[in-house]
Amino acid sequence: MRSIAFHNREKEIKEVMNILNTEPTLITFIYGPMNSGKTELIGHVIEELPNEYAVFYINLRTKFLSSYDDFIESLFEMEIEGGRRKETLKELVSSVTKVAGIPINREFLDYVFKDKKPKNAFSYIIKLFEEVKDAGKQPVLILDELQKIRDVKVNGPLIYELFNFFIDLTKEKHLAHVFVATSDSLFIESIYSEAILQERCRYLLVDDFDKSTVIHFLDKYKFSDTAKEVAWNCCGGKPVCLVELINTKGNRKGKAEELLKIRKGQIEEVVYSLEAKDKTMFDAVMGVLSEFLVNDKTHYKYLSDEITFLVRKNIIFADSVNKELRPQSRLNLLAIRAVLKNV
Ligand SMILES: Nc1ncnc2c1ncn2[C@@H]1O[C@H](COP(=O)(O)OP(=O)(O)O)[C@@H](O)[C@H]1O
Ligand SMILES: [Mg+2]
Repeated sequence: MRSIAFHNREKEIKEVMNILNTEPTLITFIYGPMNSGKTELIGHVIEELPNEYAVFYINLRTKFLSSYDDFIESLFEMEIEGGRRKETLKELVSSVTKVAGIPINREFLDYVFKDKKPKNAFSYIIKLFEEVKDAGKQPVLILDELQKIRDVKVNGPLIYELFNFFIDLTKEKHLAHVFVATSDSLFIESIYSEAILQERCRYLLVDDFDKSTVIHFLDKYKFSDTAKEVAWNCCGGKPVCLVELINTKGNRKGKAEELLKIRKGQIEEVVYSLEAKDKTMFDAVMGVLSEFLVNDKTHYKYLSDEITFLVRKNIIFADSVNKELRPQSRLNLLAIRAVLKNV
């Protein structure tokens, strides 16, 4: 498989760089539909950052997180013992490379886990970040797929404690930049209406590519005009889907049709198994879907049960900031239309 070079995102990179060039004041939520390129963008920005930034990047996607302890463990990276042990914060900071988890040693870890108090973990991170600053670097904390801790509790919901901690790092102490990425529209919706976050965060949408970006992307891989049209008609601007077509040798049109057929089948499974269980809900769901027969997107006022159902099934993406509802991708839009036309 050939490797695909990072494409474009000039506007988003500029926005992130503007944020990084000023004093930390707000938490930045990076959101967008599934597979739109959020993680890829973050990785690219990190690679390009000058060494004066110390990035602590934690992706919770692959982590098993059922308890507070699981979460805390996923944040830290144990100092690997070899050579002289690093005992002080200063020594731990000296080993920080441009990007890593949060370094810790055995003694500090005992303190962090003591009494299961988030306060301990957070005060350790603050001390460490202050040390990073003293060493002349700007700490940047990035948590990818944060919605995974939505249900984790320590006394109350952990997420609540965490938001207060992020506010402390940004608005109060101006100590670290904080970025949170998620594909989960229901999570963003709950953040958007969260009182403690009002005026303490900003939102950065990382969306699928637009058509001219897609054309430029495919030009790099010598797509013919017909092949570009087929790709746009099937994948729209979803990077992951375009990469799949780029890597397809030979019959790209056949591949595009196959992707559509598979997605149509999956959506049929979701809606018709619902019809068997709950006819009222099925009718409401079909009502939402039928809006996409002629429109690419619609507006919504609140997340009703039927919208929530479709969002949970990753068929629809709800953009809480712009109050827009649309299929997760162009492939989903076409699959929805195909399902509706079969009715
Ligand atoms: N800017 C880009 N240039 C090239 N490929 C990209 C780009 N953004 C995303 N991709 C491709 O799409 C895949 C999914 O992107 P990812 O960042 O994991 O999505 P998200 O984090 O939004 O769910 C990546 O693994 C990569 O193959
Ligand atoms: Mg991601």
